[in-house]
Amino acid sequence: MAFATVWNYCVPLAIITVACLVRTARCQAVQAENVTVLEGGTAQISCRLQNYDGSIVVIQNPRRQTLFFNGTRALKDDRFQMVLFTPRLVRITLTNVSVYDEGGYFCQLYTDATHHQVATLSVLVPPETPTVEVKQEAVEGGEVELTCVSPRSKPAATLRWIRNSREIPGVVSQQDNGKTFSVSSTIRIPVERKDNGAALSCEAFHPALGSGQKRIRHYRLDVYFAPTVRIVPPSGILREGDSLSLTCSVTGNPLPRNIQWSKINDTLPERAEISGPNLQISRLSQSHNGTYLCQAQNNYGRAADHYTLLVYDNVSLTSTVPPTPSTTQPITSYPATPTLLTSSFVPDPKDPGAVVETHSAVPYAVIGGVLALLVFTVICVLIVTIWCSVRQKGSYLTHEASGLDEHGEVQEAFLNGNDASQGKKEYLL
Ligand SMILES: *[C@@H]1O[C@H](CO)[C@@H](O)[C@H](O)[C@H]1NC(C)=O
Ligand SMILES: *[C@@H]1O[C@H](CO)[C@@H](O)[C@H](O)[C@H]1NC(C)=O
Ligand SMILES: *[C@@H]1O[C@H](CO)[C@@H](O)[C@H](O)[C@H]1NC(C)=O
Ligand SMILES: *[C@@H]1O[C@H](CO)[C@@H](O)[C@H](O)[C@H]1NC(C)=O
Ligand SMILES: *[C@@H]1O[C@H](CO)[C@@H](O)[C@H](O)[C@H]1NC(C)=O
Ligand SMILES: *[C@@H]1O[C@H](CO)[C@@H](O)[C@H](O)[C@H]1NC(C)=O
Repeated sequence: MAFATVWNYCVPLAIITVACLVRTARCQAVQAENVTVLEGGTAQISCRLQNYDGSIVVIQNPRRQTLFFNGTRALKDDRFQMVLFTPRLVRITLTNVSVYDEGGYFCQLYTDATHHQVATLSVLVPPETPTVEVKQEAVEGGEVELTCVSPRSKPAATLRWIRNSREIPGVVSQQDNGKTFSVSSTIRIPVERKDNGAALSCEAFHPALGSGQKRIRHYRLDVYFAPTVRIVPPSGILREGDSLSLTCSVTGNPLPRNIQWSKINDTLPERAEISGPNLQISRLSQSHNGTYLCQAQNNYGRAADHYTLLVYDNVSLTSTVPPTPSTTQPITSYPATPTLLTSSFVPDPKDPGAVVETHSAVPYAVIGGVLALLVFTVICVLIVTIWCSVRQKGSYLTHEASGLDEHGEVQEAFLNGNDASQGKKEYLL
């Protein structure tokens, strides 16, 4: 650049100077500088003069219309202003530059031998932030076609598609619109529902933006997919009087607007309250038994989930009689029953745990019972013996003996003799 400048300015100057010295006359020259400016900006067009002797200076536009004739405006265009006219430098400005102002501006000196130089004005049009056009909507399992468009730039902008910091190569097309270019880059990518909301960006690079600078358009993938439906079931078992609360969790793009609750082969119970995805039934009764369905649909499909409600009798587990074996309910529906059944006197043949428990319990019970009987008999014999031996000393001991037991019957037994105490033993066992 420096060399070019030296070449372009000094060499002609040197030649002219030499020529002037040879001619020993006053010798004039003019120099023009190329200018690059952004569209809408202001260009300065400068003509440097050498050995100016008052000759007429003319500045012309690329169509060779005279803009200024020795400092006087010639063309009626207010965007041009003469800002400087000295014997060394003539400078005009052009505001609000458009691409149509591009070209060579002439600096001329009218002397006996006419000198002229051309200042080339270049106009750059930086791109606006590009736009993204969706050519084909993204449906799960299909492909999406996205086009990034930069409609106007000069020179043509460079476009890049980026996803997760990586470039996706696109098909680039460029159109020349006279002075400016429109550029587009098209990509096609397969989409699944997991891609819904994925972030992409299209970047536009351009010399007028400076190195490393870019205009970025962010785009989020909108992938359409059929709904999914799942009923979140209540935990534990439900008994009469409980309330049921079901939530239907729905996905889908677009998200289904209407969620429909129904009961298979029946109408929904009167007490059922529906609010959006929730179904609530208070004070359950066994008439509410049945299969409840939640359905949702959008333009891409429909989905349903069901929940089978079984309302249990609220006395069945606290009574001594378990649910009748004829019911078709699987035993696994009774999480707490096996231990309860073993403690009752009705062994359940279906429950192997209960049978094992009974077998191991029987010998200990028998041995314990026999021992208790023996000990009791010994105590009774002792008491009777002592009672007989102290009988004459007073009747207060009978009251003491009765204090051993809270049953009035037993007190009578002691008073009446040994036969009654035998009945008491049976009772306690
Ligand atoms: C000015 O631009 C013209 C055309 O682009 C070119 O031919 C010329 O060499 C340039 N002059 C200078 C001094 O850079
Ligand atoms: C041209 O303009 C300059 C500067 O105003 C002036 O000095 C010169 O005399 C003018 N030349 C003619 C021929 O009018
Ligand atoms: C700049 O020029 C454009 C057309 O080239 C025009 O639409 C716009 O109004 C101008 N702006 C100013 C500030 O003069
Ligand atoms: C179950 O309990 C609820 C309240 O706790 C009561 O209203 C209902 O009558 C009971 N049902 C039966 C069959 O006992
Ligand atoms: C609904 O009724 C039909 C015919 O009456 C029967 O085949 C089906 O099993 C029933 N469905 C339910 C969930 O009860
Ligand atoms: C409801 O389901 C429970 C549990 O399976 C069952 O015991 C009961 O008999 C059923 N009631 C009706 C009316 O179907």
